[in-house]
Amino acid sequence: MMSLMQPFAAQLQFQNGLIEPYGEKTVRRLSDMRGMYLDIAVTEELLKQGDPLLYEVYEVDVPHEQGQLIYCTSIIYPGKVGDEYYMTKGHFHNKESTAEMYLGLQGRGYLLLQTHEGQVSAMEMVPGTVAYIPPFWAHRTINIGGEPFIFFGVYPGDAGHNYGTIEEEGFAKLVVEKNGKPVLIDNPRYR
Ligand SMILES: [Fe+2]
Repeated sequence: MMSLMQPFAAQLQFQNGLIEPYGEKTVRRLSDMRGMYLDIAVTEELLKQGDPLLYEVYEVDVPHEQGQLIYCTSIIYPGKVGDEYYMTKGHFHNKESTAEMYLGLQGRGYLLLQTHEGQVSAMEMVPGTVAYIPPFWAHRTINIGGEPFIFFGVYPGDAGHNYGTIEEEGFAKLVVEKNGKPVLIDNPRYR
């Protein structure tokens, strides 16, 4: 028989996104996202100069199984690769019928979503924004500000992550800086 899980709490620091105790910490550098930014030449140049840290995720240790809720904080650092702001890889869930929620804590970002059919949605996230990611939508977050963009996320324990589809096809839209402002442009390399 499965043993009964005991209730617990973690402590989240709103200022820097650290949540303790955490189980897994994911660190993504530019080398982990080779080919995902539009400007390949700038990517290679930045890799030579020291492989910048793009984002970190602290995930609380909860079993990855149906009925559970996994929660985490993500910290996307400010910066750009060419004109393109630092962003997460983005993913579909393995179990695509699962939703997710994000709560903005610090900084300014974009939440970019799309379906397999190519439908796109984008919304700005600021502290206090509670974004709902419905089932079947891939999602990526982007830091469009000058400070870390930090948000809290919660999703079903059996959701899983499918990064491969986005790695292969990309997102239909890119968020780039034009005249000091974030704009959405068509991704010329989509699919
Ligand atoms: Fe997700």
